[in-house]
Amino acid sequence: MPLLCVNVDHVATIRQARQGIEPDPITAAAMCELAGAAGIIMHLREDRRHVQDRDIDLISKTIQTDFHFEMAATDEMQRIALDIVPATVCLVPEKREELTTEGGLNCIGQEKRLIEYLAPLHERGVGSSLFIDADPAQITAAKNIGAEYIEIHTGHFADATSRSEQKEELARILDGIKMAQDLGLKVNLGHGLNYVNILDFADVPGICEYSIGHSIMSRAIYVGIDRAVRDMNEIIRNFVD
Ligand code: PXP
Repeated sequence: MPLLCVNVDHVATIRQARQGIEPDPITAAAMCELAGAAGIIMHLREDRRHVQDRDIDLISKTIQTDFHFEMAATDEMQRIALDIVPATVCLVPEKREELTTEGGLNCIGQEKRLIEYLAPLHERGVGSSLFIDADPAQITAAKNIGAEYIEIHTGHFADATSRSEQKEELARILDGIKMAQDLGLKVNLGHGLNYVNILDFADVPGICEYSIGHSIMSRAIYVGIDRAVRDMNEIIRNFVD
């Protein structure tokens, strides 16, 4: 069964608007777990715009499921990951000026660097995932890097402004999923997925995890975290395995 992992960065974003102590993403993470999330995701950005070091430290001590640590491939983040030992690290590109992660990681030409970067993490038992676009060359590079998972970037699909554009993006993603699975990579999907567009993946076999933040936390404002997570889980539970 595909699993739902919830990204709680947006809870931290609201807290940081006042730079206070509420709402606390750690409390939100525990509520997501109680509602059935299979894992929790946080992205500690270099500029600390939402998630803070304290959050990463606390989640690693309180997580009941799996903590997936989203991060840029920097020395600082590697040190933190080696310290907290998350279930997986998901390497993402990071630009200071972007609102959110805009594109996939460029793995091409970075294979040697990323193999060396991930090696100490793998030695510590940390799994790895590369957040990439559904581009055959990136998928091949990800395979050569030896990551266990790729997370295919669904943001362009989610942002499509017409059904035909969306179908084109969907076809690209479906081809990417198939190619990655044929290469033996485990495939996750994430970015911009919501309660409606996720239905396009209902018949796609072999997806390990859906990584979803914004739409769940948006719904949570109206109905609460518990219901928002349960609603999404209910949808995903009916997907093919
Ligand atoms: N996956 C990755 C790699 C991301 O950077 C993000 C956004 O932080 C997500 C998934 C979740 O995207 P959204 O918040 O749009 O659901």
